[in-house]
Amino acid sequence: MTDDIYTMGKELDLKAEQEKTLATPRLPANLTLKIMFLTFDLLYGKGRSLPKVLVLEILARYPYWAWENGAYKLLSLWHCATGPVDQQKIKDALRHIEMGREAQDNEQWHMLLWADLCRQQQIKLSWFKHWLLPRHMTFVYFYLTRIMYWIKPVWSFRMNAAFESHAEHEYMLFAQEHPEFDSMAVDSIWFEYYPRQKSLGDLIRRVGLDERDHMNRSLAEAARLEGGGNS
Ligand SMILES: [Fe+2]
Ligand SMILES: [Fe+2]
Repeated sequence: MTDDIYTMGKELDLKAEQEKTLATPRLPANLTLKIMFLTFDLLYGKGRSLPKVLVLEILARYPYWAWENGAYKLLSLWHCATGPVDQQKIKDALRHIEMGREAQDNEQWHMLLWADLCRQQQIKLSWFKHWLLPRHMTFVYFYLTRIMYWIKPVWSFRMNAAFESHAEHEYMLFAQEHPEFDSMAVDSIWFEYYPRQKSLGDLIRRVGLDERDHMNRSLAEAARLEGGGNS
């Protein structure tokens, strides 16, 4: 997989990228993700909405934190190593920390943007459905990813790729279902940290492309580890 596939920081035709997503099948979800997506539909409705993608983003950060946490744990265990330390494992841990930090920041801006837009649009969020329940879901999602990363890291990268594929498709469908979003100007304090977009439609497409990048990075890392994990 070459770096050409990544979209972040590139000037792209966002509508053309939306079409590309919609012409591509989603990655298959495992049982955990199927249960998670079904829970989203039951709790937040089958339709796509800002509060629903807000909850998706509350969860999205946690696999990256689990990799960062797991990689640090591995590095800290080596302070008492009695034999030579495997150089490749150090490189892997440092790569996962870097990947984890970068994506966590990105997911954080997504979450804060949607929360701000809900506030601006006076969409009432529920303390129970948009705070308490997501907190419990993040707990489960974090530890599940953490355990997978501990037993076999490839499992966690593949599961995250499928989560991100779902998120990419949901965003592109959300933009497609609401052509009126293309004439809605968008502003937020968080544009100090995230690339400003000219309309709500483009913001949703740009976030969808970030999810595609996250998916591709997870797939690339899984393939690298499966291929012997050199460099
Ligand atoms: Fe996201
Ligand atoms: Fe993501």
